[in-house]
Amino acid sequence: MSRGEGNARRSTVTLHMVSSLDGFIARKDNSVSWLEAEGSVYEAGVSISEEEAASFVKTIDCYVLGSRTYEHALELGWPYGDTSAVVLTSRKLPPARKSVEFYSGDLHTLVSEKLAPRYPNIWLVGGAMLSQRFLELGLVDEICLNIAPVLLGDGLRLFGGSLTEKRWDLKNVVAYKNGYVELSYTASTV
Ligand SMILES: NC(=O)c1ccc[n+]([C@@H]2O[C@H](COP(=O)([O-])OP(=O)(O)OC[C@H]3O[C@@H](n4cnc5c(N)ncnc54)[C@H](OP(=O)(O)O)[C@@H]3O)[C@@H](O)[C@H]2O)c1
Repeated sequence: MSRGEGNARRSTVTLHMVSSLDGFIARKDNSVSWLEAEGSVYEAGVSISEEEAASFVKTIDCYVLGSRTYEHALELGWPYGDTSAVVLTSRKLPPARKSVEFYSGDLHTLVSEKLAPRYPNIWLVGGAMLSQRFLELGLVDEICLNIAPVLLGDGLRLFGGSLTEKRWDLKNVVAYKNGYVELSYTASTV
């Protein structure tokens, strides 16, 4: 049974991450300034306007993130606007924004009881630890992976732990003018 079939209302959990060519999502010191670095232009690539990006972001109903990603996002400048965000933590963290709520505990319960009835389009935006837990529990329906044109050599691994082998179906590939490549997959039913 796919994750959504047991839900009162069908929802999709998409894991979205940006990785270096060698599979890191942050440098060893946690910095992600490499995401902003400009390289040469890939002429055959596409670019999206701010309006297109904004209308795409509007389709996302809720973000889910681990506490370390939350703390880092607050430091760098909150990128999730006023869209609902659920932060996983066992600590008592100050709610920095009205749109943020905290959750601690079982992730199946989080998705099936708290998120799915309210949000059709759920985006899990990291970090590595939380993404790994979601994947291990079979709670991810789609993966949207952006590959940045950089080798970092070291850092926080995108998929660091020992995940069980599982096939994913390629749904779409987009190459951007800035050299990023976006790979979209859906969980294989085969
Ligand atoms: N390149 C990218 O696309 C990208 C995306 C996201 C993040 N990042 C980077 O990744 C780094 C953070 O990733 P990370 O792997 O270190 O940490 P993380 O996954 O963001 O957060 C891990 C934390 O989540 C909490 N948690 C996880 N499962 C929980 C559960 N079931 N109940 C309660 N709390 C739970 C725990 O918080 P407590 O310890 O508070 O209990 C745990 O320490 C940052 O440097 C960030 O900038 C990069």
